[in-house]
Amino acid sequence: MASTGTVVDRGLEGVVVGSTQLSNVEGAQGRLTYRGFDVRDLAAHATFEEVCYLLLFGLLPSAYQLADLRVRLAANRSLPPECITMLQALPKDAWPMDVLRTAISALALFTPHLPGGVHPSNPRAAIGLIAKTPTIVAAWNRIRRGLAPVAPLPELATATNFLYMCSGRAPLPAAERALDTYLVLLADHSYNASTFAARVTASTRADIFAAATSAIATLEGDLHGGAPGKVMQMILETGTPERAEAYVRALVARGERVMGMGHREYKVRDPRAEQLEGMAQALGETSDPRWYAVARALEDTADTVLREAKPGRRIYANVEFYTAPTLYALGIPADEFTCVFACARMAGWTAHILEQLADNRLIRPQATYTGPPGVPWLPIEGRNVS
Ligand code: COA
Repeated sequence: MASTGTVVDRGLEGVVVGSTQLSNVEGAQGRLTYRGFDVRDLAAHATFEEVCYLLLFGLLPSAYQLADLRVRLAANRSLPPECITMLQALPKDAWPMDVLRTAISALALFTPHLPGGVHPSNPRAAIGLIAKTPTIVAAWNRIRRGLAPVAPLPELATATNFLYMCSGRAPLPAAERALDTYLVLLADHSYNASTFAARVTASTRADIFAAATSAIATLEGDLHGGAPGKVMQMILETGTPERAEAYVRALVARGERVMGMGHREYKVRDPRAEQLEGMAQALGETSDPRWYAVARALEDTADTVLREAKPGRRIYANVEFYTAPTLYALGIPADEFTCVFACARMAGWTAHILEQLADNRLIRPQATYTGPPGVPWLPIEGRNVS
């Protein structure tokens, strides 16, 4: 029987749909924790590999456990040759997130499956996906420029390897550290849209490749992970801090949203924005300080203009705002920012998929039917032609 109940909230705002031990967003306080650890502490002290271990296995690794994970990641970073051939056959102007989504899905083709077609979903598969995602993104970064992909080096950590595979050169220590911190900050975020999509897919008993592909597809939109490229476009178009006010006023007058501002959960400034702002500023000082200065002016102006538009309301910078000048300073093209986000979030997605499967129940909500009731069958000759 069709449901006639009232819709809880179209965007599920404030609706609790499950539980997790992985991360917690305390929106009113502006706090994010992974398994109880404040992300600010993790950003200051932990490496991305430690955070992967924490998310997948539930505790911070010992030195031995961390070394073991690093060996396992190193052993899994290379792509199947067929996957590289596939990337090389794609149109060079293909959108990087389309390429990443296709390649993650394609990885299933090169992984043995069980008789029913499903691939085992376990920590081993999770580590494979976490290891290979940056290799795919870096390979496409080069292939689209007409360059041969650079193979990962087993002795390098995730962030260093990624920068090395993009440029073919050893990155500067400040760049390595900044990207590693970025990966820590973006690794998980409770039931955000892409993670929820991954859990819904996993709940049908589809495998980890299917669920990760759902997650990547869901990350792409600009209300979620697709925003930072547009933030960078806004920064570049603005050009100088003096032009920020005119730019934001024109944008708001057109009824458009300021990308990288506002958040469903945070009612104060996103704690990751705080961290990323510092990184964008520091990296800008050694590359080009303009972009941080423009970003800062845009954030200040947007706050003023949006408050004028609706007195009493505050809309703060979210994680994507200072992601833009941070990743740009690292030499990453704006249209690849969301792919780098996916490199970090693959840790959270896979941990959530395994958590879902450990205590699974099919996620299948209802909808209120608003179409016509009991329509009698119409033979084709009796249908309206217009
Ligand atoms: N610029 C201008 N106005 C914004 C805004 C922004 N970035 N974010 C929210 N608002 C306004 C909306 O227009 C709406 O105004 P109204 O009440 O007058 O209609 C109000 O704030 C609430 O917006 P709503 O879309 O209901 O809030 P939400 O919780 O669904 O929004 C986002 C969360 C992220 C979708 C939203 O803030 C947004 O679109 N941000 C820009 C895109 C972005 O940065 N995405 C990355 C998110 S991490």
